[in-house]
Amino acid sequence: MEQFIMKGGKPLKGEVVIGGAKNAALGIIAGALLTDDNVTIENLPDVRDINVMLEALKEVGATVKRIDRHTAVINAADVQDVSIDDEYIRKIRASYYFIGALLGKYHKAIVPLPGGCAIGSRPIDQHIKGFRALGTNVEIKNGCVQAEAPDGLKAAHIYLDVVSVGATINIMLASVLAEGRTIVENVAKEPHIVDVANFLNSMGANIKGAGTDTIRIKGVKKLHGTTYAVIPDQIEAGTFMCAAAATRGDVLIKNVIPKHLESISAKLLEMGNTIYEYDEAIRVIGADVQHPTDVKTLPYPGFPTDMQPQMAVTLALAEGTSVVIESIFENRFKYVDELARMGSNIKVEGNVSVIDGVKGFTGASVNALDLRAGAALVIAGLCAEGITIVNEIGYIQRGYEHFDKKLQTLGADIAMVDSDRAIQKFKLRVG
Ligand code: EPZ
Repeated sequence: MEQFIMKGGKPLKGEVVIGGAKNAALGIIAGALLTDDNVTIENLPDVRDINVMLEALKEVGATVKRIDRHTAVINAADVQDVSIDDEYIRKIRASYYFIGALLGKYHKAIVPLPGGCAIGSRPIDQHIKGFRALGTNVEIKNGCVQAEAPDGLKAAHIYLDVVSVGATINIMLASVLAEGRTIVENVAKEPHIVDVANFLNSMGANIKGAGTDTIRIKGVKKLHGTTYAVIPDQIEAGTFMCAAAATRGDVLIKNVIPKHLESISAKLLEMGNTIYEYDEAIRVIGADVQHPTDVKTLPYPGFPTDMQPQMAVTLALAEGTSVVIESIFENRFKYVDELARMGSNIKVEGNVSVIDGVKGFTGASVNALDLRAGAALVIAGLCAEGITIVNEIGYIQRGYEHFDKKLQTLGADIAMVDSDRAIQKFKLRVG
């Protein structure tokens, strides 16, 4: 089983380039099903969840040509099956986007209920509410969502009860070819929502208002092919921002949209770190002594829930007490027990954690329990005295491309290992 091993104590220094946004690319890949023309997607992150989604497209008869690790040409003209059911697709959350896309074009879809990181119950009732409002019969049978709109999809006025990234994207996918004008209120406003809307509009869709509380989709008859580059990943960028601050380093993070990082920059500045913003880059210089601050995760433009574990690790090394409130998911503090093995002092009560900063961590063997928790534990290991091993790194590889290699370019003593021999070799090398 692969692990990350690292020897902490070295401030990260240098430059790192951010890849494409995983959570935008997942919706865009499914959206390629909505046309019979070629769809070229550029700046795809080379991560497991993306590769699983591309494989799933082939399952239904689409062709997928990988031009390089970050570019794919998809053609769905020969899709004849609207049911996807393989063991891999069951493991990822974004499988649900195939429901919206297959419904949108073929008015039928049979897709397994989604998997994904165990950070809460993660129902899809708002997705189903949207599909039903558009005239679809939806039932859950044999672990799958079985959806069909025998009379085609008709525009609707939908009010989401919960701000949901997935439901917002899924309703856009299902309604771009529906007859009439669909209005969706109380939608998510994340950068990846805007990116999926821009992608669909580049195919001839008529979507207005993405990034605001209300999205208007005027159905069109047909969508055409496109070439589209995915936006930079806000969360990968934020993860490196926290890594720079926590290790007291100085890192220039390139290929970012600073506007998307404002809530993360604000918190790191409150802690006393220095941040320089450029057109497409951001530089973070970690202060030796960092102040505590309070964080509450909220839908965009609030502080992103996907940055909560990484920020908590940074706060755990600040001087003083911070409070972190997780308002999006009900079970996103599982990493706290792992961090405690490294000497952190965090108490969790419901969706509130109280973090008493400590002078430093000591290395330990810890488990990545979900994607962002895994990234946070790597940051902790880079700050810890001695050797840290992070197990279950498959979670991390679902959303971070070459995480260890990018950290190595910043001077980190980190390696991916898969045997005791490799662990011994690493320990001999770093001393
Ligand atoms: C997306 O998950 C992301 N995943 C998550 O990123 C991210 O944490 C989340 O959005 C919030 O930003 C992908 O894009 C693949 P939601 P999603 O629907 O769509 C509740 C990562 O680390 N809800 O916005 O599942 C839900 O339980 C992953 O990259 C309903 O109640 O999130 C949660 O409490 C982790 N009913 C809240 O809404 C629904 O039908 C937000 O969920 C849908 C959601």
